[in-house]
Amino acid sequence: MDIVQLETDGQRAESQGAPNGKLMKFPANFLWGTATSTTQIEGHINNEWTGFVARDGSTCDIACNSYYQYAEDVRWMSKLGVNAYRFGIEWSRLQSEPRGPLNQKELARYADQLDQLNAAGIVPMVVMHHFSNPAWINAIGGWTNSAAIPAFVDYATKLVAALRDRVRFWNTFNEPDTYASCGYLIGEFPPSKKGRLDSFRAVVFNMAEAHEQVCHVIREAGSGLGKVEVGFSKNWTYFLPYRKTSPWDVLMAAAIHSQLNGLVMKRFLGGARKTASTFLGVNYYGRIRFRNLKPLVPTFGFSHEELVRLGVECDDMLERYPVGLESALQQIYQQCQLPIYITEHGSSSSDEAFRERDLRDNLAAVHRAMERGVDIRGFYYWSLLDNFEWQFGYSKKFGLLSVDFKDEQRTRTMKPLAHIYRKVCLDNGMG
Ligand code: BGC
Repeated sequence: MDIVQLETDGQRAESQGAPNGKLMKFPANFLWGTATSTTQIEGHINNEWTGFVARDGSTCDIACNSYYQYAEDVRWMSKLGVNAYRFGIEWSRLQSEPRGPLNQKELARYADQLDQLNAAGIVPMVVMHHFSNPAWINAIGGWTNSAAIPAFVDYATKLVAALRDRVRFWNTFNEPDTYASCGYLIGEFPPSKKGRLDSFRAVVFNMAEAHEQVCHVIREAGSGLGKVEVGFSKNWTYFLPYRKTSPWDVLMAAAIHSQLNGLVMKRFLGGARKTASTFLGVNYYGRIRFRNLKPLVPTFGFSHEELVRLGVECDDMLERYPVGLESALQQIYQQCQLPIYITEHGSSSSDEAFRERDLRDNLAAVHRAMERGVDIRGFYYWSLLDNFEWQFGYSKKFGLLSVDFKDEQRTRTMKPLAHIYRKVCLDNGMG
C-alpha cells in the first residue's frame, strides 16, 4: 500500500468553512466526541513518563487529576453535548508482570468510568496503547523487542474479556509513527534515542503484528453492546518541501513521508492485515514543510512573525492545512476501504477565534470528503482538557476546557470554542 503525497504550490490555504447560512448536516448516528490519553490527564501514573521533565519544567505527576476526577469529566462531556469519548486504559496500572492477572482494583475504576459514560449516552472508544508501557516492557527494550507482542496480546485478551460488556470500540495503538519516531529518531520521547532507524522500524513492525493479533482476539470476543469495532489510529501529517525546486527539501520530505506514512500504512493495513481492522482512526492536524532542511514549525524555533512572512499559518505546534484533510481522507479511504473515524483533530492556541476557524475549516473538509463518498463515521476533538502535552508540558493548550494547574482541584472551565463545538454536536452539523 503506497499513498502518494499531494502536490503543493506553497500557497496558504483559503478558509473553507460552511457557506453562509447553509447548515452542513452530518448523517444520523455520526459520533461527535472528544479525546484524551492516560498519561496526559490521569496523573498518579507509573510508566516511562513518570519523572520525565518537559521543556517547561513540568511533569505529568498530577496532570489533570482525572484519575480521581473522571466522574467530573463525564459530567463536563454531557454539558458539551458529545456522544462519544476516546480515552485510554493504562496498561501499567493493570498488569504488574508479564502474563500476570489484571489488577482488580484498577479494573473496577475503569469499569466504573465506562459505566458512567454508557449511562450518560457517551459511546466509549478505548485506546489500549498511547505512548506508554509498563516498566517491565521498557526494561526489555520496549517495542524494539518482539517479546512485547505476546505480552500485549495477553494483556489485551484479558482486558477485552473483562470489559466486553462495556466496550464496543477498541483502538489498539495510537500513532505508532509518532511514538516510534519521537522515541527512536528525534529523541523527544522516552527512551530519547536519536537516529535509530532500525529501532524505529522494529517498533513499527512489532506493533503492527500485535495489532493484527489483537484485532482477531477482539473480533472473536465480540461485545455485549453490539457489533464490535477495532482499529488503530494513524497520525496523518503531510511532509512537504517548502519549495519544489529545492532537491534537498524534496528528498527529506519524501524520506520522512515514506517511513512515517508509507511504511506504517503498509505494515498495519497491507497484505493479510487488510482485513484485520474493522475501521481506521485518522488523527489529523496539518502539515510540516521543510526549508533548507528545517521544519517550518514554531516548535523548531521559528517565530510566529517569521512563519507568517513565509505564508505558513500555524497553531502553537504545526502548520494548518485543512484542505489537505479532504484529500488525505479520499486517498486513505481509496487505499484501505475501511470506515474512518477522525480520532483526533484540534489546535493549540490562546486565540480562540483562530481555533474556531481551524475547527470549521477542518469540519468542512471532512464534510466534503463525505460528499465525495468517503465513509466517515465520527469526529473526536483533541482534546477535552488542556493537558500534559508530552515534551512541551502544560504550555500547549488543546483543551475545549481549560484546567487551572495551580489549583489543587484542577478547576475546569469551558473555553469559547467549547460552546461552538457544543452547538455543532447538538445540531449534528455546522452552520
Ligand atoms: C497525540 C496526542 C497529542 C496531540 C497534540 C497527537 O499526536 O496522539 O497525544 O497531544 O497529537 O500534539
